[in-house]
Amino acid sequence: MDIRSKFLEFFSSKGHQVYASMPLVPEDNSLLFTNAGMVQFKDVFTGEIPAPQTPRATSSQLCMRAGGKHNDLENVGYTARHHTLFEMLGNFSFGDYFKEQAIAYAWEFVTEVLGFDKSVLYVTVHQSDDEAFEIWSKHIDPQRIKRLGDKDNFWQMGDTGPCGPCSEIFVDQGAEHFCGSEDYFGGDGDRFLEIWNLVFMQYQRDALGNLTPLPKPSIDTGMGLERVVALLEGKRSNFDSSIFMPLIQKVASICGKPYHYDKGASYRVIADHARSVAFLLAQGVHFDKEGRGYVLRRILRRAVRHGYLLGIKEPFLFEIIQEVCLQMGGIYPYLLERQNIMIQECKNEEERFFETLESGMQLFNKELSQTSVIFSGEVAFKLYDTYGFPLDLTLDMLRDRNLEIDMQTFDQCMSKQKEMARASWKGSGGEFKGGDLGNVTQITQENSYLEQPCYTQSKITMAFDENFRQITEILEGQKGWIVLDNNPFYPQGGGAIGDSGWFFTRDQLAADVLDSRKYAEITLNQVLAHCDLKVGDSLEARVDTMRQKEIAKHHSGTHLLHSALRDLLGEQVAQAGSLVENHRLRFDFTFSRALTSFELQDLQDRVNTLIATCIPMQTQETSLDEAKKQGAIALFSEKYADKVRVVQFGDVSCELCGGIHIANSGEIGSFYILKESGVSSGVRRIEAVCGESAYLYAKNLILEMATLKEQLKTQDLSASIQKLTEENKRLKKMGQNQASLDFEIQKIGDASVIIAETKENGKEIIDQLKNQNDKIAILLFQQTEDKVSFVAGVKNLPLKAGIWVKEIAQVVGGNGGGRDDFATAGGKDTHRLQEALQKAQMYADQILKGE
Ligand code: ALA
Repeated sequence: MDIRSKFLEFFSSKGHQVYASMPLVPEDNSLLFTNAGMVQFKDVFTGEIPAPQTPRATSSQLCMRAGGKHNDLENVGYTARHHTLFEMLGNFSFGDYFKEQAIAYAWEFVTEVLGFDKSVLYVTVHQSDDEAFEIWSKHIDPQRIKRLGDKDNFWQMGDTGPCGPCSEIFVDQGAEHFCGSEDYFGGDGDRFLEIWNLVFMQYQRDALGNLTPLPKPSIDTGMGLERVVALLEGKRSNFDSSIFMPLIQKVASICGKPYHYDKGASYRVIADHARSVAFLLAQGVHFDKEGRGYVLRRILRRAVRHGYLLGIKEPFLFEIIQEVCLQMGGIYPYLLERQNIMIQECKNEEERFFETLESGMQLFNKELSQTSVIFSGEVAFKLYDTYGFPLDLTLDMLRDRNLEIDMQTFDQCMSKQKEMARASWKGSGGEFKGGDLGNVTQITQENSYLEQPCYTQSKITMAFDENFRQITEILEGQKGWIVLDNNPFYPQGGGAIGDSGWFFTRDQLAADVLDSRKYAEITLNQVLAHCDLKVGDSLEARVDTMRQKEIAKHHSGTHLLHSALRDLLGEQVAQAGSLVENHRLRFDFTFSRALTSFELQDLQDRVNTLIATCIPMQTQETSLDEAKKQGAIALFSEKYADKVRVVQFGDVSCELCGGIHIANSGEIGSFYILKESGVSSGVRRIEAVCGESAYLYAKNLILEMATLKEQLKTQDLSASIQKLTEENKRLKKMGQNQASLDFEIQKIGDASVIIAETKENGKEIIDQLKNQNDKIAILLFQQTEDKVSFVAGVKNLPLKAGIWVKEIAQVVGGNGGGRDDFATAGGKDTHRLQEALQKAQMYADQILKGE
C-alpha cells in the first residue's frame, strides 16, 4: 500500500489542498533545516501572512533533524526509530476546523484506511486538555487515553513561534517489546510506538517565553511515514522496513558481511545517513567548513566511519546514494536529474576523509589505550581540527565504552579557533522580519515596475521606522520604509539588488530611495527623507533608471554566463548562488575543480559572442511543467507559484526568473571575468563585470598601459619588460660580484697588488679585476681542511703569474704553473699557508719595487 498517496488522497477528499514538500533549507533562513510539515505554513499560523483561499492543507514533507531540539544525531542507528531524514505526513487547518474534526479525521484514517485494530490503539492528551479528552472518549475507551505533561504533549517548532497542546496516537506492538518501565508513553521502550501527533495550535511563543493566543486556533499534525510503513509491514524497527532494507543490503554487499539486527548499528547509520546526504546534495547544500554544509559533512563522515568499522577502506557511500536515487527518484525526480553530480561530489568528499581517517583512528586508539575515565579534550580537538573528526563522531566512538570527553578543554581549544565560530542563522531574509510588517499584507499595491515605467504618481499608504514599527510619518532627515499604492521600483529578488531612486513633491526632492524589497507580495522602499513624509501624501516616484539598466545588464549577463558555463563544462554545472548588482556580478556554480586560464578565456569569449550576436530577450508566463518542458533551468531552492516567468535569449538561455533584464543581449556591451575562485568543496565562483563597469574596467586597463608605456618610453611593453628583467638580473649579479671584489689593494708604484682569500670563483674575479684595472697583479687563495689552492693573474706588469705561484706552491708542498698572465697552484701543507703568503708578498715586492 502506498501510504504517502493514500494519506494525501484521503485529506484531498476532505477538502484539503495538496502541497509539495518544501525545500529542506527554508528560504527565510529561520531554521537550520525544515523539521516539520508545518514549517511551510508557519507564517500563516502566526498570522504574518493571510491564510490561503482553501484554509485546509495536506503534504508529505521531507524533514531533517540533525542535532538540536528534536533529535540527537548520535541516537540514529542505535534506536528503532530515530532518523536524520524522514517524511512527515500532515494535515493542516488554518483557522478552519479544530480539535473535534482533527481527531475525527485522524481516527478515520488510522482505523479505516490504515486498518489498525482498535485494540492496539492508545492516545495521549495534555493533562489540562479536558476538551481533547472528551472528544477522544467518543472514539476510544477512556481507559486508553493517558494524560501527560508539557514534556510529551506540548509542541513547539523552536524556541519561539506557534505552539500548542497536542495529542498523540500510539500503537501497541505487543508485550514482547515491553521495556519494563511504567512511563512507556514517550519513554524509551518500543512497545508503544507513537505514530501521529495532532497539535492544537493555540499560542505564539515570544523570545521571553510568553504565550499569546493566536488569531485563529489551527491544526497541525505530523505522522512519521517510516514508522507507519514499518508497522504495517509487521516490523519491529523502521530499519527493517522496505524503506531501509534495500540500503542496508547494499551496505552488506559492499562490505561482504551479512547484516544482523543485533550487531547492525553501523549498517543502519549508513542507510539513514545516505538518505540525508542524497537529499541535501540534491537540494543544493554542499560540503563546507561551517553552517549547513558542515552538518552535511558531519553526517557523511559519521557514515564513512561506520563503513570503516565494517572493514570498508575506500569510498562506498556514493553507491548507497545511487540506491537512494533509484528508490526515491520516482517521487522526487530531482534526485535522478542531479544523480551524477551528487555522486561525484560525495565520492570526492569521501576520498578526502578516507585520507585522514586511518591516521585519525590511530591517534584515537592510542589515546584510548591511555584513557581510563575521561578522554582528553585536547586530543578530541586535534581529531576535530587536524583529522576532520567532528566532535559527535568522537563521542560516537566513545559511546560503547562509556567514556566522556573533557569538554572544558575541548571548548577552550575550540574558542581559540575563532574562525570556526558557527555561522548565525539570521541571514538577510530573516532580518527583514518582525515589527509590524505583517500589516502590509492587508493592503493591495499596484506593482507597475513589471511594465518598467521610470516614474509613477503615487500615494504613501504605509510607513515603518527602521525597526519596522508602523508609524504615520517619517520625519525629515530620518530613514524608514514606505509602501506606495503604485510602486515603480523593482524589489530585491533572485540574487539581484533592489532599485533605488527618488521621491519628488511639487518638483522638490522629498526623499532618496535607497533600496526596494519585497515582503509577501508588497514592495517596500527604504528612504532617507528630505522633508516630512506622511501616510496619504502624494508624490512622484522616480526610479534611478541608469542604475536599473546596469542591474539589468548584469542580470542578463549572468544568464548568458550560466549558459556558456554549461556549454563549456557540461550539464553538471548547476547554479549554487548568484549576486547581481549594478556594477558587478558574482555567480557560484557546482564544479569539482578550478578553471584553467584557457577555459576562463574561452568562457569570456563565448559570453562576448552571445552579446555581439544581439539576441532579443523574451519573457513569458506559463506553468512550471510547461516551462520545464521547454528546458527552463529551475533552481531547486526557490519556491515557485502556479505561474512562473520564463526569461529566454533565443535558444541559448532559458531560465525561470522574476528579475529585470535588458531587451537585447547586445545592450550588455561587453563582459569581463575579474576572478575565479573556490567557495566551498565542489563550488566555484566567477566574478565579472558588464555594461558600464566593463567599459570602465577596460578603460582603466588601457590607461594603466598608456602610463606604463610613457614611463618606460616604449610602444612595445612586453619587449621592454623583458629587457628590463634581464638588465635587472645582470645588475643583481654584478652587485653580488661587486661585493666579492671588495679586496684590500696595495699600491706598489703605479701597480695594484691584491693578495687575498676568496670563497668564490677565483678566475672570474681575476677577469673582472683585470677589466677594471690597467696594471694589476692578483693572487687569490682558498683553504679547505686538507689542501690549499691558489690562482694568480697579472696584467701589464713584469711579474709572471706562472713563476709567482710556482714559488709558493713549493712552500705548501705542492706545485703549480701556467701562463705569465694567469696561473694556478695547490698544495697539502695547509699549516704553512702563512709562510707561503709571505713569500708571495716578498716576490711581488722584489719584482715590482726592484728590491
Ligand atoms: N509539528 C508537529 C510535529 O512535528 C506535528 O510533531
